[in-house]
Amino acid sequence: MTKVVKLDRENPDIGLIDEAANILISGGLVAFPTETVYGIGANSLNPDAVAKIFIAKGRPQDNPLILHIAEFQDLFKYAKNVPDNALKMMEMFWPGPLTMIFKKSDIVPPINTAGMDTVAIRMPSNTIAHTLIKRAGIPVSAPSANLSGKPSPTDASHVINDLYGRVDMIIDGGSCDVGVESTVVDMTAEIPIILRPGGITKEMIMNAIGHVEVDPIVYKKPAKDLRPKAPGMKYKHYSPDAEVYIVKGKLGDVIKKIQELTEFQLNNGKKVGIMATEQTYEKYRNGVVLLVGDRERPETIAKNLFGCLREFDKKGVDVVYAEGFGYDEIGLAIMNRLEKAAGYKEIIA
Ligand code: TXA
Ligand code: MG
Repeated sequence: MTKVVKLDRENPDIGLIDEAANILISGGLVAFPTETVYGIGANSLNPDAVAKIFIAKGRPQDNPLILHIAEFQDLFKYAKNVPDNALKMMEMFWPGPLTMIFKKSDIVPPINTAGMDTVAIRMPSNTIAHTLIKRAGIPVSAPSANLSGKPSPTDASHVINDLYGRVDMIIDGGSCDVGVESTVVDMTAEIPIILRPGGITKEMIMNAIGHVEVDPIVYKKPAKDLRPKAPGMKYKHYSPDAEVYIVKGKLGDVIKKIQELTEFQLNNGKKVGIMATEQTYEKYRNGVVLLVGDRERPETIAKNLFGCLREFDKKGVDVVYAEGFGYDEIGLAIMNRLEKAAGYKEIIA
């Protein structure tokens, strides 16, 4: 049985938070909101509890989890050799949508790290997440609360869809602010490497510590000679049931191309979805047109991206044409998720 509870994200009921904390302490699974996406949490220090996460999600065991903490000093319990750069980043970006990878300490059970000698750690800022972890008094391992391969959940309804009956409790705390998963940075390298782009952008990290690299996989399709350092980046992800194509080029050309493609598909009896922006929404007359956000405020696009992909599935479209975006700032995270959703299929207008 899954208990679903609704909590005020600014001022959550402590009685209900403690009920959730007790489920975690006693080895159960709780899905909860964070500022990025919803997570499915278990007590990191209890290998049997952590094992349940992989079963609930249908997640491959070789894909390591992020440990979520609520107190700065806890970092040093689970990580070794924390470099000065990481202290600076922690000061600037924690709590927040940043995950850092360190050498792991011996008390972290290997099931969390897929047997690797490194561990991913993050301190979420969402009040419900933060309070839950603090009251539980344990580190909480939490992948995104979707079935493996589906778009990450940014609203409790997405979690209920995927995980009802598979977890002990689902906390409904409304929609997530950032909408894409945390930035994952490998801090074990001389120059830190972004393994997964997210809300804390490359530009923000550059400003904070002066240098950072990006794993080439972030820009490209994985191949035999190009393997991601974050195991999770190699899996097919975020895939709606529809075929997704990204249409890139000058915005005017993109609009025209999508109009043409839509007409062609409709004539072939296909149901077509279009992922449009404030700037282009009015131009599309045919197909299922969904508004993903405002190009002038790209954070709105990040916030709505996964919800939009799920909505296309609900509407039963066969093909989705998504407008492309730039790769700077939060655009890198948006395009990374969109490219995975599209299986890297793109059309140049
Ligand atoms: O925003 C987020 O990070 C969300 C919320 C719930 O906190 N969590 C999340 O977890 O996205 P998950 O498990 O869906 O993604 C974690 C990513 C995967 O790509 C995984 O391979 C990578 O982090 N990762 C975890 N530990 C790692 C390690 N030791 N070395 C390299 N990559 C690691
Ligand atoms: Mg995930």
